[in-house]
Amino acid sequence: MIRRYDFAPLDGITKAVYRRVWQQYFGGADRCFIPYFSPTKEHLITKRERAELLPENNPDTVLVPQVMTNRAPELVWAAETARSYGYGELNLNAGCPSGTITAKGKGAGLLANPDALDALLDGACGKACIPLSVKARIGYADPDEFPRLLEIFNRYPLASLTLHVRVRSDKYSGPLYCDAFAYALRESRNPVSYNGDLRTVEEVAAFAERFPDADAVMIGRGAIADPALFRKLRGGPPASRDELRAFTSALFDAYTAFYDGQTGHAAQRMREVWFYLIHLFDDARRLNKAMRRFRTATEYRAIEAEIFAALPLRTDSAGDLI
Ligand SMILES: Cc1cc2nc3c(=O)[nH]c(=O)nc-3n(C[C@H](O)[C@H](O)[C@H](O)COP(=O)(O)O)c2cc1C
Repeated sequence: MIRRYDFAPLDGITKAVYRRVWQQYFGGADRCFIPYFSPTKEHLITKRERAELLPENNPDTVLVPQVMTNRAPELVWAAETARSYGYGELNLNAGCPSGTITAKGKGAGLLANPDALDALLDGACGKACIPLSVKARIGYADPDEFPRLLEIFNRYPLASLTLHVRVRSDKYSGPLYCDAFAYALRESRNPVSYNGDLRTVEEVAAFAERFPDADAVMIGRGAIADPALFRKLRGGPPASRDELRAFTSALFDAYTAFYDGQTGHAAQRMREVWFYLIHLFDDARRLNKAMRRFRTATEYRAIEAEIFAALPLRTDSAGDLI
């Protein structure tokens, strides 16, 4: 039985503004992961990163902050910083596929060098003041790398090991290596959590049937595409048209306030949300194209109004979330 539902970190989308408004309208996740912050060697993080971590910007939600680093001193410092904000766990990003990040040996780049990964965890796990968890892929270039990686994770007491069951080069599409997850369920000494392409209650139920020993899943794009997904997983109703209209309107207003009244910036953020949310509507081809191309906030508002006025609302999202 799935006992825990985590909302995945989606940099550029599930930041404090989105989390706050989403929690107010839908909610239903046990925990939300904060997209990563990146400490410098001087142990500095940006003002924006600090604001993301501030508990007052994140009310009514259980949160797990995430760090991107390949150096033990920064990982230990990040844990202290997270604790100073009241958090009880810090997640290490070992999955980001971006070339600029992996080239520095960070994110999924950590998986390309298992000895460095081992040294990082060895240098930080005994010293970090709060438990560490890891969000990783099952390999850098090949799923056959996974047993060696799991052997390393097994050397350390992690709060959890969340696995996006793809290799780095496949980014967020391409084959899901579910056999690697089955292997992790059997062989991991740490609690494991599944991540990858879950979009509907039916898909989560099929997953739970296939992996009856799995008790935690993390969902990202599926929950942006269907903001009521976590609520539905708990037996609640699907999102209604009025609810979605009120949600997107409140989100746009919250982004506008965040950007000091610059509606153009707010509309750009909404474009990222609609990239996934459009999958909750049928016959969306033309308006999806328009949503990807608008130039002004006025254009954005007109396209959104037409979506709500004209398109049939689905009870589940459909299509590939890419
Ligand atoms: C736009 C975008 C931003 C992401 N940002 C992060 C991030 O900051 N940290 C992280 O660990 N994963 C990040 N991810 C990966 C997601 O957390 C998740 O692993 C991925 O979307 C697959 O899960 P899903 O199929 O449920 O969406 C990001 C993915 C996308 C598409």
